[in-house]
Amino acid sequence: MRITLGVTGGVAAYKAAELVRRLQQEGFSVEVVMTRAACEFIKPLTFAALTGKKVITGLFAESGGEANLESAIEHIAVAQRTDLLLVAPATADTLAKFSRGISDDFLSTLYLATTAPVVVAPAMNVNMWNHPATQENIERLRGRGVHVVSPDEGYLACGMTGAGRLAGQDAIISAVREVFQMRQDLEGQTVLLTAGPTQEDLDPVRFLTNRSSGKMGYAVAEAAARRGAKVILISGPTALESPAGVTRIDVRTAEEMLNAVQKHVAEATTAIFAAAVADYRPAEAAAHKIKKTGGEFALRLEANPDILATIARKKGERLIVGFAAETDKVAENARKKLKEKDADLIVANDVTAAGAGFDVDTNVVTLFARDGRDLALPKLTKREVADRILDEVVRLSASVKHQSAD
Ligand code: CTP
Repeated sequence: MRITLGVTGGVAAYKAAELVRRLQQEGFSVEVVMTRAACEFIKPLTFAALTGKKVITGLFAESGGEANLESAIEHIAVAQRTDLLLVAPATADTLAKFSRGISDDFLSTLYLATTAPVVVAPAMNVNMWNHPATQENIERLRGRGVHVVSPDEGYLACGMTGAGRLAGQDAIISAVREVFQMRQDLEGQTVLLTAGPTQEDLDPVRFLTNRSSGKMGYAVAEAAARRGAKVILISGPTALESPAGVTRIDVRTAEEMLNAVQKHVAEATTAIFAAAVADYRPAEAAAHKIKKTGGEFALRLEANPDILATIARKKGERLIVGFAAETDKVAENARKKLKEKDADLIVANDVTAAGAGFDVDTNVVTLFARDGRDLALPKLTKREVADRILDEVVRLSASVKHQSAD
């Protein structure tokens, strides 16, 4: 789960460094955005060192003065990848901007651009906090669903005593937890996932593989963890970071993937097969590098095991979710796969459609469920698709439980 921490310009900005550590210890991945005023109190370098990530301090790339596309649309990228925006400390000025929709810096623009939940922890002088302008802004933000972690009372940096001190770390962390727990509908479940491509060796330096990036499977793994499941991700080689809170097991070949799945499937209540497994592998992997001979070269392939079908044969009450990459007759082929592989849900995508398929961040899929329900989804980000797949998993597992209780 990814948290974007907005740090704004108050004395309490130094406390945000400790907060980053604490959030990381709680298993969150943290990215920091600072306002210009915050940089007067604490250096971006502190947060860069703590997070190992670039700290965003402005809307436009400052060095060299040249506008570049990456920085111009970065707020949208950050808005899309964050699971929660936390602003601590939040100054009166930032709260006013949020409340009015003013977007004249990165953080206030991000606030408008994100659909993720927002938590603010204000810190300021007691009179500024009590001022009707600030209180009105707070009320307006609360009315909009923003979670406010009220400041503590106590001795303030300005020498006054009263409400205005940044809330303690425990209070901030529990507000963050509470927001995430709103949708813990996979609590108690174990989700096993396969993702990414496989590599099938030809000789010590060559292999057969495919264009799968693993993005869809990783998005499902991340969403399942966020929704409270224990997640075991069995992954072919990808360039992706492991989602927070997920146990990842790296494999290369289809055979290794099958072995890893068999080793862990017993504890899974749901198994989701998002990997693009090579259907065939070279019949013999040469022990030494194959030398060119100049003439034709024929490669003999043999079938790989079908991991999904192997597991589905002994599924018991376990829910089985498969993917189908189709180029034509999507519904017909997907329904056939659902039946033949004895799956409970098939996520079918037409890989020729715009915004679908390999190495893009969006997908266009239809969900075909065992109980006859077809759900055609519009073009969505892979993260949104992941949640819709899990919504179906929750619905289907409720009906399995219902049937077995009858
Ligand atoms: N799958 C698997 N093991 C394989 C092949 C596929 O677990 N050896 C899983 C994939 O992870 C996916 C589904 O089965 O969930 C895809 O089934 P598949 O029959 O391979 O369909 P396509 O890849 O769509 O290809 P084809 O239409 O050629 O069968």
